[in-house]
Amino acid sequence: MHKNIEEIKKLEGSPKIIKNLFNKNELERFLKLYQDLPTTVHNKKQNVIKKRWLKNYSSELESLFYNKVKNEIGEFKMDNLKDENNDDILGLFQESYNPIGLHVDAGFNLDEIIFKQTLIPLTSKGSTVVFKNKFYGNSTNFTIDENELKITDLKYGQNIRSSEHLNLYKKKPFNKENHQKYLKHERIENLEGLEIDIVYEWEMGSMLIFDRTRLHCSSSLIDGKKIGLTTFTKK
Ligand SMILES: [Fe+2]
Repeated sequence: MHKNIEEIKKLEGSPKIIKNLFNKNELERFLKLYQDLPTTVHNKKQNVIKKRWLKNYSSELESLFYNKVKNEIGEFKMDNLKDENNDDILGLFQESYNPIGLHVDAGFNLDEIIFKQTLIPLTSKGSTVVFKNKFYGNSTNFTIDENELKITDLKYGQNIRSSEHLNLYKKKPFNKENHQKYLKHERIENLEGLEIDIVYEWEMGSMLIFDRTRLHCSSSLIDGKKIGLTTFTKK
């Protein structure tokens, strides 16, 4: 569990969608950056390409991003992982053809005061489901898949696998209509006790900001590939 839960809770709020935050030129620069960065992970099974936003590839985009986010959430620090050379990783570009499962991005250090995370869509089709439910441990993938739960040998920066969420919230079956509509890639039993807060429909130029304690996942509506940039903040 996070040590500063009270401070973390004080910073929590509703998910926020900011429209028309980035213009066409800025989005093109983000995509160019994505193309220029080296590939970190190409998970062929899940069909996901991940690229880390490494520092000093584009200082212009770094300050543009920082200022836009600061304007929305106030003072913050980037909660960066480090790469092999101990350089900061500012965020994560993910290109995927399949929906990403239920998880929380609460970080890997229980001493930090985790704050908000941001999502910038770089393709126009896709959506993200943010639940009302919160979690105060480390970054975790929530699953009831036995094979997933067996994975305990984790590398730096990898999420814990757990089904702990099923004990945390009121044991209420998940809404069937919402399951059919948005979350067909998840077993409905894995969503027990969860309630949707918002479904963010990706729109170019917009950004989603939400608390790092919120459970979330992709919706099952994917049309081809989607590319998104995620970053994490702390106080
Ligand atoms: Fe996430």
